Amino acid sequence: MSAELKHEGSLGVAMKRKEDPRFLQGKGRYVDDISLPNMLYMALVRSPYPHAEITSIDISEAMKVPGVKAVITGKDLDAAGLGWLPTFHGLDKQMVLAVGKVLFQYQEVAAVFGENRGAAADGAEAVQVEYKPLPVVADPFMAKADKVILRPDRERKTNHIYHWEVGDRDRTARALASSPKRIKQRIWFQRCHPAPLEPCGCVAQFDTMGRLQFFVTSQAPHVYRTALAIVTGIPEDKIHVISPDIGGGFGNKVPVYPGYVCAIVGALKLARPVKWIETRTENLTSTGFARDYHMDVEIGATEEGRVTALHVATTADHGAFDAAADPTKYPAGMFGVVTGSYDFPVAHAEVDAYFTNKAPGGIAYRCSFRVTEASFAIERAMDILADELHMSGADLRRKNFIRKEQFPYPSPLGFTYDSGDYHKTLDTALEKIGYNDLLKEQAAKRARGELMGIGISTFTEVVGAGPSKHFDILGIKMFDSAEIRIHPTGAGIVRTGTKSQGQGHETTWAQIVAEELGLDPQNIMVEEGDTDTAPYGLGTYASRSTPVAGAAIAMAARRVREKARKVAAHLLEVGESDVEWKEYKFQVRGVPAKSVSMKEVAFAAYTNMAQNEPGLEATYYYDPPNMTFPNGTYVAVVDIDRETGESKVRKFLAVDDCGTIINPLIVEGQIHGGLTEGFAMAFMQEIQYDSEGNHLNTNFTDYLVPTSLETPHWETAKTVTPSPHHPIGAKGVGESPNVGSPAAFVNAVMDALSPLGVRHLDMPLTRDKVWRAIRDAEAGKKQS
Ligand code: CDP
Repeated sequence: MSAELKHEGSLGVAMKRKEDPRFLQGKGRYVDDISLPNMLYMALVRSPYPHAEITSIDISEAMKVPGVKAVITGKDLDAAGLGWLPTFHGLDKQMVLAVGKVLFQYQEVAAVFGENRGAAADGAEAVQVEYKPLPVVADPFMAKADKVILRPDRERKTNHIYHWEVGDRDRTARALASSPKRIKQRIWFQRCHPAPLEPCGCVAQFDTMGRLQFFVTSQAPHVYRTALAIVTGIPEDKIHVISPDIGGGFGNKVPVYPGYVCAIVGALKLARPVKWIETRTENLTSTGFARDYHMDVEIGATEEGRVTALHVATTADHGAFDAAADPTKYPAGMFGVVTGSYDFPVAHAEVDAYFTNKAPGGIAYRCSFRVTEASFAIERAMDILADELHMSGADLRRKNFIRKEQFPYPSPLGFTYDSGDYHKTLDTALEKIGYNDLLKEQAAKRARGELMGIGISTFTEVVGAGPSKHFDILGIKMFDSAEIRIHPTGAGIVRTGTKSQGQGHETTWAQIVAEELGLDPQNIMVEEGDTDTAPYGLGTYASRSTPVAGAAIAMAARRVREKARKVAAHLLEVGESDVEWKEYKFQVRGVPAKSVSMKEVAFAAYTNMAQNEPGLEATYYYDPPNMTFPNGTYVAVVDIDRETGESKVRKFLAVDDCGTIINPLIVEGQIHGGLTEGFAMAFMQEIQYDSEGNHLNTNFTDYLVPTSLETPHWETAKTVTPSPHHPIGAKGVGESPNVGSPAAFVNAVMDALSPLGVRHLDMPLTRDKVWRAIRDAEAGKKQS
């Protein structure tokens, strides 16, 4: 059987694999399932204060707890040169265990090792730490004043971390000043958390030869190995990182966290394996948060609604350490995609980041580094502009879209968009959802005083980090890799530097190999996540797997094919140049009846290869020439209950264009999942701190995760505009729904509230917030 990829993907393969639990669930082993002889458990002591001097740490009571074996503190780590961790983009470092002072509530202060989880937890409770509270810097606007300097360890004595900008400031200012129409809006993308269902964790053990075996929930196992070698000084060949099955990552499992270093130190010190599994609270309070961008967005336009300029100035809250997982040269990630799908003649974007007394992070939560923030800003602002111009959001977008003949499109902020047909995607969406009928229904409802809104988001993403001339993490270029071995019977194995966390690489990677080589995808095994066997790669996040590793797989398969062609020529008794690859077979040029299958060639490669090199395998390290630019149109229809403020998403349609689709079922699943997360951010989720720096939602009763009860019904459709530079034309998709959907929800709610004169509300649009906005608007109307 040969796989059919083409533009439709292979639904049949996906369906079959769905029935076979081996394929979509990997090997069925999570870190917490690992149990090793003599294993110890670790628990962390965490600070109750957001900012305080540590005046003393007394471990004597903890050591008396039955089963407690050891306690380590920041001073112990400092003495061993392990006090600080570099952050991934190399701009800052992070304390492993606090020394001198703590900088956020729940910061790691000491690690306790016990014979079982209970002993470790009881030991952690018994560690006595005395603190002297210090004034708290609760937000980046307070941080700006530099009245309290949070990080005296840094050379620059200021809370300001960096200023980043792109585009033409002066021309943008001039264009805005001379534009007849202008809008300006502060838009906050609130602090969120990826909240994977499986929290972070690891098991560390040293074998008798002193080699570290490190099982960990990592989205980037090779980067971990290199980072651990740099931090601990253990040679890289003596470190074996294994990422087993992962229960969701969403960017949360990209950074190296202090707990991992402590577990390794414990395993070394006590010469026993150590397991550390975070609690839900630890995950929500101390691991990488996302967003927290305050964006001042300004757009200029002509009277007719042609955009003239965009300026975005962002104040970013990075928490206590600058642990944003961005490529080295991009402290604000891919925020430069903020011009979105629109042909702005000129633009300028700038970001200023600050330290505050909050958990560090700023990770790429299902987003290619700050793209979700950028997309939300431009899609909200376009609706605000449409209001100002008394135009529909759809018409304004249509008028300003980058036209399909403009691709490859150089954006004013430095990207070259690869491909897209935005008009077609929008038209498909509006037709499919019955936009004109919805407008009529809305007019009738408005006449009756009912609140119904239609929200559109026509987003563009940038994924596939990335070309080595621009992108690296800790200096390592962001390529990815694939190694393919075809066995004598035509079965095979593909190994990559990526790591699936539920995205279905087990299925789609096999499909790419099968498509390129005409083999049965059921017999192509996929292996990722083991640094002893997988070729070096930068991992899975930022929707980079398909654009980068997917391309590496196609290219490695083509190398296998070239090797196989020589064996085919021998079998067909013709010269190599007379052999062509057609219809998933090697054929003699002009004599289609004379052919051999890849399966036959594979057998011959081990049994009858003549003068050719035996075996059938290849490796490819793929350095992408450009990023890919998936895009889509999302439409949300919302009804709001005037009395309670409750927003009900009655209809939602997502039309995505991710280029060539490898597997429609998996793409559909990716979109459903991402939309559910987008819905959660729009209506439910915010990591909140009070003005004293106390973390207010430390569990899933306070930080809400939608269940099937709240989740709307998702409708999907697609347009297909292949990427011209990707070997199979595929773009990433996993993040599109998370990137594109928040604006569709919020635009729908704002559209519903527009008759009341409400222009903008920040997420999450809770019942309470919407109800207050309705009440205030009505009170205002009565007064005037
Ligand atoms: O990096 P990550 O795997 O999270 O994201 P992705 O590259 O967007 O891929 C998510 C899943 O969708 C993978 O299994 C892909 O192979 C699949 N996919 C697809 O079938 N067709 C596409 N054009 C893009 C992704």
